Amino acid sequence: MLLPRATPLSIAVHFLCILALAQGLLTGPSPEASAACQNISQGSAETQIYPQALADPDYLTAKNHYWDAANADLTPACVVFPTSAEQVSYVVSVLLSFPTVPFAVKSGGHNTNVGFSSVDFGVLISFSQLNSTILSSDQATAEVGSGARWENAISALEPYNLAVVGGRIGDVGVGGLLLGGGLSFLSAQYGLGCDNVVNYEVVLANSTIVNANEHRNTDLFWALKGGGNQFGIVTKFTLKTYPIGTDGQVWAGTRIYDATKLSAVLNATQHFIEYNDDPKAAVIVTLDIAVDTLVQVAVVFFFYDGETPQGGVFDEFNALIPTSDQVTTQTYSDFESGNDEYSLYGLRYLYRTTTIPNLPGINGTDLYNTVYSKFVDYVITNDLLFPGFVFSLAYQPLQTLLSAASVASGGDAIQLDPRNGDRVWIDLVISWETAVGDDIAASAAEQITSDIDSYVRTTYAGVPNTRYVEGNLTYEEYNPLFLNDAMYDQKPAQSYGNNSYERLRAIQKNVDPNGFFPTRTGGFKYT
Ligand SMILES: Cc1cc2nc3c(=O)[nH]c(=O)nc-3n(C[C@H](O)[C@H](O)[C@H](O)COP(=O)(O)OP(=O)(O)OC[C@H]3O[C@@H](n4cnc5c(N)ncnc54)[C@H](O)[C@@H]3O)c2cc1C
Ligand SMILES: *[C@@H]1O[C@H](CO)[C@@H](O)[C@H](O)[C@H]1NC(C)=O
Ligand SMILES: *[C@@H]1O[C@H](CO)[C@@H](O)[C@H](O)[C@H]1NC(C)=O
Ligand SMILES: *[C@@H]1O[C@H](CO)[C@@H](O)[C@H](O)[C@H]1NC(C)=O
Ligand SMILES: *[C@@H]1O[C@H](CO)[C@@H](O)[C@H](O)[C@H]1NC(C)=O
Ligand SMILES: *[C@@H]1O[C@H](CO)[C@@H](O)[C@H](O)[C@H]1NC(C)=O
Ligand SMILES: *[C@@H]1O[C@H](CO)[C@@H](O)[C@H](O)[C@H]1NC(C)=O
Ligand SMILES: *[C@@H]1O[C@H](CO)[C@@H](O)[C@H](O)[C@H]1NC(C)=O
Repeated sequence: MLLPRATPLSIAVHFLCILALAQGLLTGPSPEASAACQNISQGSAETQIYPQALADPDYLTAKNHYWDAANADLTPACVVFPTSAEQVSYVVSVLLSFPTVPFAVKSGGHNTNVGFSSVDFGVLISFSQLNSTILSSDQATAEVGSGARWENAISALEPYNLAVVGGRIGDVGVGGLLLGGGLSFLSAQYGLGCDNVVNYEVVLANSTIVNANEHRNTDLFWALKGGGNQFGIVTKFTLKTYPIGTDGQVWAGTRIYDATKLSAVLNATQHFIEYNDDPKAAVIVTLDIAVDTLVQVAVVFFFYDGETPQGGVFDEFNALIPTSDQVTTQTYSDFESGNDEYSLYGLRYLYRTTTIPNLPGINGTDLYNTVYSKFVDYVITNDLLFPGFVFSLAYQPLQTLLSAASVASGGDAIQLDPRNGDRVWIDLVISWETAVGDDIAASAAEQITSDIDSYVRTTYAGVPNTRYVEGNLTYEEYNPLFLNDAMYDQKPAQSYGNNSYERLRAIQKNVDPNGFFPTRTGGFKYT
């Protein structure tokens, strides 16, 4: 019989396992965390407490069902499943009497930053049981629970041929997406998701329940629109509704292109942003490379808010022959749920973002192609073969149309300004299989985005982007960064327009003078 050879790697892995086991035995919830959990369980919300909870399916789903599997390495001391603002208020009041116990708030669990919606040996507040969608009697708004996924909200409104401005993949959570802005297929028409929130029901740091809207708690209302999770725990969002499609039917789906089409796809994307004036049309262009095979493909999401695209908006794309074509006329909710195939579980993930200009003409196509080749070069020239890396680069149009719609619907903390012209939110996504890849992925992400940034800075500083009217054209001013796609070390709120950060910081301090959120939970901070 052949004995498996002990390689340095297998020895190292073995050693790490022993270490992990030993740590597991030595660590556990602190006495304070256990006591806080006991106290929380005396409230009316379902509470599952470690270690008995390791046999409970609700606890295990809350602990393990994260898009980025690295979050499942953490072990909550307990998970509480509130079904009302009152129950959340009770949990916060208990947390206030146990000042050393950390906590996290989880909606859809899609954020890739470990510790933002996950917690080790602290209290996890899971909104999975607060996921209803209720249409108002005048049908102008819908109340959506913080634990709903976009496919829940969108399918609930479908019978009325109505929709909300939500995420582009049905499985993503309402809570995190709206607090970070929220880019939707409907954003060029109606602005970001957060621009369409008319009321937030919020539990504050002192456990008080308030509503924040255009008339009450107006500073908080503004801060929740893109400022992230440091202002309060939102238990319910009231969202504007809009008619969707042609009697509910939209033209939408994905097409996959092989490597020979990538440059043409990128050029078509640049032209789409430069020339398209129809806010009903949207794309997301993602380019992927698997490190083990070096196979490169583009996956393009197409969307038109109507049964057939008008005015030839997608003609340049339509002329390119894909290897797979799922674009069809369908309901918005079928499209959103179908997109769940791009929300694969079981892997570790990392997101990192940067913002680039959409430059006119061949500068624009050069920039798109060069950005892509810097990304591919990095992947090819670095020895990344272990463990199962896939790199993906998404070009998400941040068009003037969108900025204008954002301002028109009341604006938000991000302070998009249509006079700044067309830009692109780049989302770099890396996936891999085991913790061995964690540091490699983080450093790859940092290097790829900084390569992109320095190319823009050295080649195109001062060159106006398409639809530019005014604004600072140095690279540093190609802002804002998109909070929902930002990595933990990035500073999205600091990149917002009009000194938003200073205002957000003051509001944070005002609603949370004792630093409950900054010191007790993860997220992008204002300290
Ligand atoms: C497959 C995929 C597709 C995506 N598509 C889009 C897209 O189309 N548009 C877009 O804008 N973004 C998109 N994103 C990014 C996404 O918006 C962020 O990852 C967002 O944080 C996810 O929200 P969540 O509720 O699912 O995540 P969670 O991880 O549950 O929460 C994210 C953050 O928000 C906080 N939070 C959540 N709910 C609440 C609440 N009720 N009160 C207070 N804090 C709360 C959490 O504490 C955490 O810090 C996508 C991400 C993935 C992985
Ligand atoms: C825990 O809960 C009990 C009653 O349920 C209460 O009397 C006690 O004060 C609580 N302890 C703390 C520290 O909050
Ligand atoms: C709420 O979530 C549960 C569990 O995922 C699901 O079965 C249920 O259908 C959801 N409810 C709504 C209204 O979407
Ligand atoms: C994309 O545009 C560039 C001009 O910047 C051009 O050189 C290149 O050939 C175009 N690619 C394709 C496939 O048309
Ligand atoms: C930024 O603030 C200035 C001055 O208050 C205002 O004129 C401008 O409209 C603001 N920009 C945005 C995008 O709101
Ligand atoms: C293209 O970029 C160069 C700088 O790299 C600049 O000199 C030129 O004016 C730009 N062209 C246009 C049309 O903006
Ligand atoms: C543009 O922004 C850069 C970097 O923030 C800054 O140094 C420069 O002074 C600004 N220029 C103008 C004209 O405001
Ligand atoms: C709770 O905090 C809010 C915001 O700071 C404040 O307005 C309110 O008075 C506080 N409530 C109590 C009971 O202290």
